[in-house]
Amino acid sequence: MEVIGISGLRFSYGEGFSVRADSLSVGEGEVLTLLGPNGSGKTTVLKCINALLKTSTGRISICGRDISSYTRSTLSKVVGYVPQSHTPTFPFTVFDVVLMGRVSHLGLFQQPSRSDRLKAEEALKTVGISRLGDRIYTKISGGERQLVLIARAIAQEPKLLLLDEPTAHLDFKNQITTLSTIKRLSKEKGLAVMMSLHDPNHALLYSDLIALMRNGEILICGPPEDVVNDKTIEEIYNLPVDVVDHAGRQFILPRVEN
Ligand SMILES: Nc1ncnc2c1ncn2[C@@H]1O[C@H](COP(=O)(O)OP(=O)(O)O)[C@@H](O)[C@H]1O
Ligand SMILES: [Mg+2]
Repeated sequence: MEVIGISGLRFSYGEGFSVRADSLSVGEGEVLTLLGPNGSGKTTVLKCINALLKTSTGRISICGRDISSYTRSTLSKVVGYVPQSHTPTFPFTVFDVVLMGRVSHLGLFQQPSRSDRLKAEEALKTVGISRLGDRIYTKISGGERQLVLIARAIAQEPKLLLLDEPTAHLDFKNQITTLSTIKRLSKEKGLAVMMSLHDPNHALLYSDLIALMRNGEILICGPPEDVVNDKTIEEIYNLPVDVVDHAGRQFILPRVEN
């Protein structure tokens, strides 16, 4: 079943940059990756879907309802958003930051229940950071914070998870464990995921669909093997690459000429 559908979307920052997405659809248990150079419009698309930016034309439908029919609080029950960067303000514990993921499910003045606390604990465990629970959020590393925000979004139990460069601050291993966790959760919970990534190989390994972006446009969207190859990657990044077969899979390597 479709969780997010986009048609004829247009957004423009005034006179400057504009984004167009004619048709995108992500169903339950599917992972769609936006892949494209810096400044190609990935964050802008994700912000439009989370209603942080208001589109001028087009339609965004989430769980069968037009985005304009949601309030901020009803939207946050179904859409989890992990931004590209996050500046911490108050010195909450990591556990409390993750527990905040439950806020959209609470009534006004209602305190988190035991079940909410269990869901926060479970989310920390899923992301592999239970040991950080008592640490102060403002005093952990950027990569650890990234994992905390992913745990918070998981605790929220959304239908659609938007992740903007979820691997940006993560080490070599955490990039892989985080992406495989996202993919596993998507399959287990029927979660629709839309994320932006920089590494074509990560996109190949962890996506059901890839949308290639350049200059605010989605050039092509489809299954990884139809979208990512030496020609398309060379074209969008303007960089020569080689395709290498390894263990029955294709990988993209930059061509090293010196
Ligand atoms: N608030 C803003 N006002 C005007 N232009 C913006 C704003 N935010 C981003 N842009 C421009 O929109 C373009 C796309 O940005 P973005 O969506 O962040 O790209 P990406 O996430 O792919 O790197 C960039 O050229 C950027 O300068
Ligand atoms: Mg971005």
